[in-house]
Amino acid sequence: MDNIIDGKALAKKVNQETASMVEELHSKEIDPCLAVILVGDDQASHRYVRSKHKKAQQLGIKSIVKELPKETTEKELLNILDEYNNSEEIDAILIQSPLPKHINEKFVMSQINPNKDVDGFQVINSGKLFLNDQSNYPVACTPKGVMTMFDEYNIELKGKKAVVIGRSIIVGRPMAALLINAGAEVTVLNHYVDNMKEYTCDADIVVSATGKLHTLTADDVKEGVVVIDVGQNVDENNKLVGDVDYDSIKEKASYITPVPGGVGPMTIATLMRQTVELAKWSDING
Ligand code: GUN
Repeated sequence: MDNIIDGKALAKKVNQETASMVEELHSKEIDPCLAVILVGDDQASHRYVRSKHKKAQQLGIKSIVKELPKETTEKELLNILDEYNNSEEIDAILIQSPLPKHINEKFVMSQINPNKDVDGFQVINSGKLFLNDQSNYPVACTPKGVMTMFDEYNIELKGKKAVVIGRSIIVGRPMAALLINAGAEVTVLNHYVDNMKEYTCDADIVVSATGKLHTLTADDVKEGVVVIDVGQNVDENNKLVGDVDYDSIKEKASYITPVPGGVGPMTIATLMRQTVELAKWSDING
C-alpha cells in the first residue's frame, strides 16, 4: 500500500550511494574502516553486529569486530578503546550496547574519540546536536535514518506536533533533538506518563521506541498520523514485530513504517554512510 514507508528500499538506495562514495575514497587510497566492540553473549547484540559486519563488507568498508568475553573488565575494555581511538587505520568506533552490568557504559561511551564516534553518543557530538550546530559531526544512526525517511517521503516537520515515546540515549533523546532542530513541536513521553493517549491522539507524528508490544493501538492515534516504529520485539509466535499494532494503525495513518523492513535497515545504512563520512572528514581535517 502506498502509505508504507519502505525502509528496505530506501536503505538499498542509500547503500548504493555509500558504495559509490567508498569507491571514490579507494581511488584516493582512503580505506574507510569501522571497528565494532561487542562484550558478552547477548544474542540480539551478536545478531545486530553480524549484520553490520556483513553490510560493511558488501559496501567495501573494512570491518573489524572485536568480540570480548562477558567477564572483560572496564579497564581491559578501555585499553582496547584507547588503542582504537589512536589507530591510524580505524575511522569509526561502535561499542555495542548493552554492556555487561559491571561496566559503566556511560563512562566508556564518553571515552570514544569524538572524531570516530559513529554512534554520535559521545558528549561533544550529543552537545552539538542539542545546540543544532551546523558543522559536520556524527548523529545517532537510528534517528538520523528516520530523518532520511521523512525527507524521502516529503513529510513536513515544521510546526507539526511530534510525540516521541521513549527517552533513551540511542533513540528517544537524539530523535527529539533532531525533530526540534527541524522545527517540530516535540513532546517526549516516558513510562511515568499515564495519560499517553492524550498526547498521541493529538500528534501529527508519533515515533515509538519503547521495545514493548502494543505500545499504540488504532485508538491511540488520529486519522492521517505518521507512525514510525523503532521497536524490534518478538511476539508470542516468535515473529519479529514492532511496538505498534501495525495492521489496524495502517488503516488510519498517512504513513507508517513496517517491522521488519522499516527503521532497521535504515539504521544500518546510516551507520555505513556515517562511517564513510567520518573517513572523509578525517581526510579533510587531517
Ligand atoms: N544497541 C542497539 N542499538 C544500538 C546502536 O545504535 N548503537 C550501539 N552502540 N548499540 C546499540
